[in-house]
This record gives sequence, C-alpha cells and structure tokens, in this order.
Amino acid sequence: MRLDRFVCKSTELLQQQAIDCIHQGQVWVNGNVVVDESIQVHENNNIQLKGQTLVSRPFRYLLINKPANTLCSNVDGVYPSLFSLIDVERPSELHIAGRLDADTTGLVLITDDGRWTFAITSPSGQCHKVYRVKLAKPIAADAGESFLQGIALQGEQELTLPAQLQIITPQEVLLTLTEGKFHQVKRMFAAVGNKVVSLHRESIGAVSVDVAEGEWRYLSVDEVQFFYT
Ligand code: URA
Repeated sequence: MRLDRFVCKSTELLQQQAIDCIHQGQVWVNGNVVVDESIQVHENNNIQLKGQTLVSRPFRYLLINKPANTLCSNVDGVYPSLFSLIDVERPSELHIAGRLDADTTGLVLITDDGRWTFAITSPSGQCHKVYRVKLAKPIAADAGESFLQGIALQGEQELTLPAQLQIITPQEVLLTLTEGKFHQVKRMFAAVGNKVVSLHRESIGAVSVDVAEGEWRYLSVDEVQFFYT
C-alpha cells in the first residue's frame, strides 16, 4: 500500500497530516528517510515515524444486508450512504467490494483490504454472486441456455460470461454471475425482452446474507479466507 496510507493505518493521523510528516522527513522506511508519500510499502517493511516503529491495524471485513434506497457510496447522495448504518471507527478507510444499485437489496461486503476486493470483483477470480430476481414477465422455460451461452448487452462488444439461471417460478429466478458489469442483471434481462422488478443479492462465494435488513456483522476468519484460496 502507499506510504501515506500505511502511516494513517498505523496511527490516528489523517491523510494530509501523514503526508506533512513524510514531507518533513519524519518517516523512515528500512532505515532510509522517505519524503515521497506515494511509494509502495509492505507490512514487513520497517517503517518508523519520529523513531517509533509503526504497526498497521489489521484489515477489517464486514457484511451488511443492504436495504433498498441506500447508496453503495462513502457519502450520502439522493439516498443515505450504506455507511450511515455501520457504526465503526474511521468508516472513510473502508470501501465496498462490489456495489449494488440504490434499489437493489441484499449482501454487500465491505473492507479496507484492496487485494481481497480484487479477488471478489475481478472476473478472473471466478467468484460466484447469486441474485434472486423477480421479473415483470414469465421467463421462457429454455432461457437458461441463452444465459449459459452469454448475453449480448447493449453497448458491449463481448458476450457476458456464462451465467447459471435457476427458474424458481416463471417470474422468479436465481441468477449466478462471475462478473459484475454496470447494472448487469437488469441489462441481461432487458436484453432478452424482460424487466427486473426486484433484485436481491443472496450470496458471494461462500458468504450468504444471514442478518436482518439494515444489520451488519464482521466476517469470520473462514469467510475472509475463502476469497484468498
Ligand atoms: N446487477 C444490477 O443490475 N444491479 C445490481 O445492483 C447488481 C447487479
């Protein structure tokens, strides 16, 4: 991570205060003074501030059951930010590992570990996200084959990656994706002439939403590890 970020993650300093300390020559990395706040450092580097060795706080991993009319953003907008429901210290250090639309409900993962987020959100990670979708019109019994082959989304050159469709009733399905393009589920059903009327994310990999709407909890060690294996 960047040096200024490491200093923030191991002290009570805000980013500008950390940058000031670095510019003033108060920060040493492996025995050398460093005045560039943007250099990359690792947990195993010896980083000192005014002669004191810094130890980074552990990463945090949370899940929340997102209610409708909340925003996957660090700041409020048309609706309140999801972070207004989470009572933790330094919420600005956290980010969302895979956003949902304002009207979508369900599982959202939140962390300050960028590598973990990449494992979840990058299509190369092949991480399964399961959505429960209610539809305006009955879906054709053989629609699963098109979703498996890939759907041509408006404005995209490439087909969507293979997605699994499980029909629960003609107007309620479970859709499993391994990627997360902008408004992907809504656009996939629009592309086959249907319309999503409600969308709920039930799980990401081995993590399922198991708290009441608007509630959150920390992930277990096993849940965190799942995305690193
Ligand atoms: N796909 C969508 O269209 N919306 C979401 O919120 C998530 C996936």
